[in-house]
This record gives sequence, structure tokens and C-alpha cells, in this order.
Amino acid sequence: MRILLYSGKGGVGKTSISAATGLQLARRGVRTLVMSVDPAHSLADAFALKAGLFDPATADPYEVRPNLHVQEVNIQVELKRHWREIAGYLTSVLRTTGLGDIEAEELAILPGMEELSALMYVNQYRKQSTYDVVILDCAPTAESLRFVAMPTTLDWYMKHVFPTERRVLNAVRPLLNRMSPVELPTDAYFANMKELFTKLEGIETVLQDTTMTSVRLVSNAERMVVRETQRAFVYFLLHGLTVDTILVNRVLPEEVDGSFLGAQRRSQQQMLGEMEGYFHPVPVRQVPMFAEEVVGLERLEQLADVLDTLDPDPAAVTREVRPYVFERRDGRHQVRMDVPFVEKGEVGLFKKGDELVIELGVQRRHVGLPTSLAALHPTRATFEGQTLVIELGEAS
Ligand SMILES: Nc1ncnc2c1ncn2[C@@H]1O[C@H](COP(=O)(O)OP(=O)(O)O)[C@@H](O)[C@H]1O
Ligand SMILES: [Mg+2]
Repeated sequence: MRILLYSGKGGVGKTSISAATGLQLARRGVRTLVMSVDPAHSLADAFALKAGLFDPATADPYEVRPNLHVQEVNIQVELKRHWREIAGYLTSVLRTTGLGDIEAEELAILPGMEELSALMYVNQYRKQSTYDVVILDCAPTAESLRFVAMPTTLDWYMKHVFPTERRVLNAVRPLLNRMSPVELPTDAYFANMKELFTKLEGIETVLQDTTMTSVRLVSNAERMVVRETQRAFVYFLLHGLTVDTILVNRVLPEEVDGSFLGAQRRSQQQMLGEMEGYFHPVPVRQVPMFAEEVVGLERLEQLADVLDTLDPDPAAVTREVRPYVFERRDGRHQVRMDVPFVEKGEVGLFKKGDELVIELGVQRRHVGLPTSLAALHPTRATFEGQTLVIELGEAS
């Protein structure tokens, strides 16, 4: 199964392009699911599916046409399906603070629950071979990064915190129950945690496998949007995912030259030139501005026709470059990682247990060191072009 993740700044056209790409694949006979992971769902609106604004019909895969389903992860449904005990526990804790039932239930929705639920579905569809391609229509960039970082975080929690937490809690439970006004998590809570973890098993490897998962960044030819696209590019890479295409949406056509929009077109053209340089060798593809909103099956078909001219097979694997590699040069161990647009002063490095922690701006990436390197520490960081080279050695 292929996973195509579409991300980018709000309003750039992620949902329209995800939906049209789904059509493009379905028309070729590829079993495709377009799944919205943006809590502000608009997938059903793009397909002009229904009248009701809060209709949960798409909480499960919903057939739009042969070979094409859409699904919008619905947190209320997910709370009952996947998070019952965890949410139940959180609600009971919140109630002890004097909150009413409804408020407590609303607050028991933790950040990340939607993303993790989506990943559970992806994992399930992969194991059951339900679809050939799953397209993820993601939230604006910052949230989608949380989405891809989630499995690593959860994995870390389950390995390092969960076992101790549970053991300690069980040991002191009788005492704490007498002292604390707050009820402690029960076995059901931990069982729920474990079950979720089982459902997510393997997803991290899947997301980082370049032959399975590709990230496509949707952008516009405007400086502010491009800057966010550059940041996203680095951060996805840092999280071990591969960006294989940049899609610049709403590019103004030649016809507008000499009109009111002429100046905007000139600035877009200049921006497009700069983008080629920034993202090389990742292709920058242009999607034209349509005269009208891309809503409804007919308009999405037109967008799919345009996408066909850019890339007839959006599910093809085109980039397989590993995001980072371990190497040994001149007797020294190195971690090499491509990080374009990053300055040396913006890189922070430290060791935590057997992990190398690399900070790029506000983002952090944990690189698990193989056993043979686990005792080493980062001793030097240099740039060779866009490649960050981290040398590992004995701590001084
Ligand atoms: N190439 C295009 N030409 C004209 N309108 C577009 C184009 N791409 C998207 N739109 C419109 O722009 C709006 C935002 O697009 P959407 O796909 O919802 O963005 P996002 O999912 O990134 O927030 C929608 O009304 C959509 O129909
Ligand atoms: Mg959207």
C-alpha cells in the first residue's frame, strides 16, 4: 500500500489537490482512499457530498465513485471506538475539579488523539490490504508534523515511561487512593493504552519507508507561503519522511498579463524561479489557478485532468533517498543528514540515553543510535553543502 501525505499552509489547496489526486488514481482503477486528518474537515465539501454540516456519514470510508472512498476522522466517533477508557478516566479526573459533564468530556479530547486515530486506520488498511493507495489530507503544517512525530513519541513513552509508571502506580495505589482527591488510572486505562499501541505497531517504519510513504507539499507562489513550505520540507526530513514533490497551486495564467493581475503574475513567476533553486532536486510542479472554486465532482475531474498532465501516476515511487545515514569516514563515525536552508547556528545537538537529539529551530529529532554507536557522543557538527555531518566520538 502507498501512503501519500499532502501537507502545507492553510488554504493553499491541500484538500482540493488530495481529492483530485484520489480521482486521478480511481479513474486508473487503483483502489484509493482519501482520508482527512485536518480537524477542520472539508473533504466532503470538496466533493459536495451532503447538506448537513456535521454529518458523521464520512467517519467511516464513504464511496464517492467506484474505487474511491473518502473518510473524515471524527473525534466523537473515535472517542467511543478507540479511546473509551482513556477518555473516561480523563473525564472523571476533570469532573473532580468541578467541571460539568459536557465540559469535562470536551476537555478530555487530548491533542493528538485524532492524528493517532488516523494512523490506526492507516495501519489497519495496510494490514488488511483494503486499498492500494491512501491519501492523507493533512492539517496545516505544524499539526501534520505533530502527526508524523506522534508514533516516535508514543513509542518512547511506551518503552521508557509506561512500564515504570504502571509499576510505581500499582505499588503506591493504596496509599495514594487514601490521600489524593483524584482517582488514579485503572487497569482498564492501561489496557486501553496497550491496545492502542498494538494497533499502531509498525506505523513508524511505514511512514519512514520511502517506498511506501511520500510527502507532497502544497504551496502557493507567495513568499510567506514558500517560507513555510521550506520549513516544512526540513522538518519532514528531520522526522525521517521523504518529500518527493512540491505542488505550487493557483499559478496565474499568461492571459492575465496586462490586466489588474499582471503584477501578481510577474511576482509569482519570479517566486517560481526561486523555488526551483530551493527545492532542487525535488520537482516543483505548477497547478494553474481556476476561474472558479474547485468544488464538486465535475470541477475536481478538471483538476484531476491537469494533475494527469503533470504526473500521470501519482502513486509511483520517485525518491528513495534515506533521510539520514550512518557512515564511517577516516576512522570516525558520522551521522549524515540533508538539511537544506538550515544555518549552523540553528543546530543543537545532545545525547539522551542511546539517542542523538538534533534540534533544528524548535523541532527535535531523536536519532536512535545503533548499539555499536550507542556509547558515543556528538563531538563536531559541520556542513558539507546541504549535508549536516555529525561526528560521533568518545566523550571528552
Ligand atoms: N487551483 C485552484 N484554482 C481556484 N481555486 C482553488 C484552486 N485550488 C483550490 N481552490 C479553492 O481554494 C479554496 C481552498 O482550497 P482547499 O483545497 O480547501 O485548501 P486547504 O485544504 O489547503 O485549506 C477552496 O475554495 C478551493 O476550491
Ligand atoms: Mg483542507
